[in-house]
Amino acid sequence: MKHIVAIYPGTFDPPTNGHLDLIQRGSNIFDELIVALLRNPEKEEPLFSLAERRRMLEDLTRPYDNVRIDIFGGLLVDYASKVGARAVLRGIRAISDYEYELQMALMNRKLDPRLETVFMMPAETYSYVSSRLVKEIVQLGGSVHGLIPELVEERLEKKINGARRSRAAARKL
Ligand code: PNS
Repeated sequence: MKHIVAIYPGTFDPPTNGHLDLIQRGSNIFDELIVALLRNPEKEEPLFSLAERRRMLEDLTRPYDNVRIDIFGGLLVDYASKVGARAVLRGIRAISDYEYELQMALMNRKLDPRLETVFMMPAETYSYVSSRLVKEIVQLGGSVHGLIPELVEERLEKKINGARRSRAAARKL
């Protein structure tokens, strides 16, 4: 019997309800789904450490028996081959995501033609949610309630406002 393993790769800094929605959809159609955190993203320095993001994802995916969290470095296609994955799951929220995602999917196909990229759409309620905007809003004092899981909201507030309070206290010294 076929056992299809898929990877859902990303930086997840932090995980949003859109990510969680995709994990749920992926876990429904694949036999096994590995949420794979990229070790050293080329973009900006992540706000949450790798260990913090791994812990959040583990807490959030506990209800799904066929989902596990892993960390990878190097090429995604090499990691996929190492774990025996047949598919890469990626979310497309809007047309603006499409160009970048298409380029990555075609490049990954060139690198390893056996690996398929599967695109899924998160619920439309989350189509405008991104980790980058969520961080920016909390940093500027806005509310992201309902857009990220509650445990992420708590940890994000703590990280951003905790750092702000320590800076304010240091200034008073
Ligand atoms: O959440 P992100 O930042 O959009 O995820 C991007 C990710 C991790 C999927 C992408 O950067 C990636 O696969 N990096 C691994 C290195 C690699 O294989 N690069 C070539 C991609 S075509």
